[in-house]
Amino acid sequence: MPKVVSSFELTLKSRPRHQTLTNWLYGELRTAILEGRLAPGARLPASRDFASQYGLSRGTVVTVLERLQDEGYVSSRIGFGTWVNRVESPRPARHAAITPAYIRHAMAGYKRPQPWMDQAFVAGPRPFRIGVPAIDEFPAEVWGRIAAKRARRFGSWLKKEADRRGYGPLREAIAEYLSASRGVRCTAEQVVIVSGIQQALDLLARLLLKKGDPIWMEDPGYFGARIAFDHAGARTIAVPVDEEGLSVSAGMKTYPDARGAYVTPAHQFPLGVTMSLERRMALLGWASRAGAFVIEDDYDSEYRFEGPPVPALQSLDNHSSVIFIGTFSKTLFPALRVGYVVLPAPLVDFFLSFRARTDFRNSSFDQAVLCDFIADGHMARHLRRMRHMYGERLTTLMEGARRYLDGLLEISPVRAGLYTIGYLRNEMSSRQAELLAEAQGIEVLGADRCMLRGPDPHALLLGFGGFDEVAIRQGLIRLAKALS
Ligand SMILES: Cc1ncc(COP(=O)(O)O)c(C=O)c1O
Repeated sequence: MPKVVSSFELTLKSRPRHQTLTNWLYGELRTAILEGRLAPGARLPASRDFASQYGLSRGTVVTVLERLQDEGYVSSRIGFGTWVNRVESPRPARHAAITPAYIRHAMAGYKRPQPWMDQAFVAGPRPFRIGVPAIDEFPAEVWGRIAAKRARRFGSWLKKEADRRGYGPLREAIAEYLSASRGVRCTAEQVVIVSGIQQALDLLARLLLKKGDPIWMEDPGYFGARIAFDHAGARTIAVPVDEEGLSVSAGMKTYPDARGAYVTPAHQFPLGVTMSLERRMALLGWASRAGAFVIEDDYDSEYRFEGPPVPALQSLDNHSSVIFIGTFSKTLFPALRVGYVVLPAPLVDFFLSFRARTDFRNSSFDQAVLCDFIADGHMARHLRRMRHMYGERLTTLMEGARRYLDGLLEISPVRAGLYTIGYLRNEMSSRQAELLAEAQGIEVLGADRCMLRGPDPHALLLGFGGFDEVAIRQGLIRLAKALS
């Protein structure tokens, strides 16, 4: 029985002169069925409607449908009409296997970025995949209620989206939030909504760097940033990181004339250290003297489980050197794809016209829903709850690691973020350990993947945010087996 009603008009190729109407229509419908353009179960219009739609006589249509039915392509029943059957497609024509020159040309000119994981991502994240917040704990009902209300009040967001920076009330809410919680000095005029930090990095890299321009990057550092800088043709200068963060003096020694620097000062990716005040001042001093920019990636600073919150680097900047970027991927959920860039005022318009080459703005609807979620206090509540829960999960991980991984992996004492780093104490390389863990069904990331130039730090990154206490403990037992 038909399940799908074909509601779209089927495009038929024009009829070659030598072909009869019947043969032409038969050929077109048969091809459409074999190619899946007419899906199994799709109901065809009644022969009378079909004939008038395509300017044919009804007799021609009936003849063709009868032939298709005799050959098993369609079925019909009085009262139900005619519908498409499930048929095996023949092997694709030989020419389909030949890749056209333009595709080969595009592929040859493109260097695929080194994937950061060779592991095939199986369904559902397994412990200890990084970048996964506790999605089950997200107040989806509240979100759904807000979304339904906004969807009904179509005009409340549809007409107001004239500003290419993003939905005004959301930018206001973000500016207020950043000022209160991160000490960021900005107005809503300087906030531009983007589809996450990765888009911000890509745009900034292409806007601020020309081919061959040097940029300092933390080593080890965030591979997503490296991909963006590499694709802009920039030259990434690996600057070592120690317990105080990026070594500004090392950067100045190797490349004092860099155009800019990319840093994660609140929670260095991947070592987890916080940049010291002295280093912050040194970095800002260098940037203002060199006329360089500093991209501050504040990807997960909301989660600090001990000590006072650390203000943003941007809050110390008096020379418009810092471009601050943030995301809702960790605080809410990554699939939202909403992040923000806080730009020095003179750069805003330029950034927007640059962005307009590929993308005008984010979905206004998502922005309106997010805005209400923040303005009604749900985000602050969710953050408080999550901070507590993630703190407990990290404690479970640290205690469990002491118990099960003693002598194998030593977890860093840093208590922040949604992942942590563990140093291998068993002589294994990071990649060996990653592969052995994978064989036990455990997803850990070898820290060597974050190195630009330095040697393998013999360490693993372990995400704990998305896994409850039981999953964490079971994961640790399996990891111990892999590393033993
Ligand atoms: C340092 C760092 N920056 C940015 C991101 C990604 O942010 P987004 O999802 O907004 O692109 C991540 C993701 O884990 C990250 O670790």
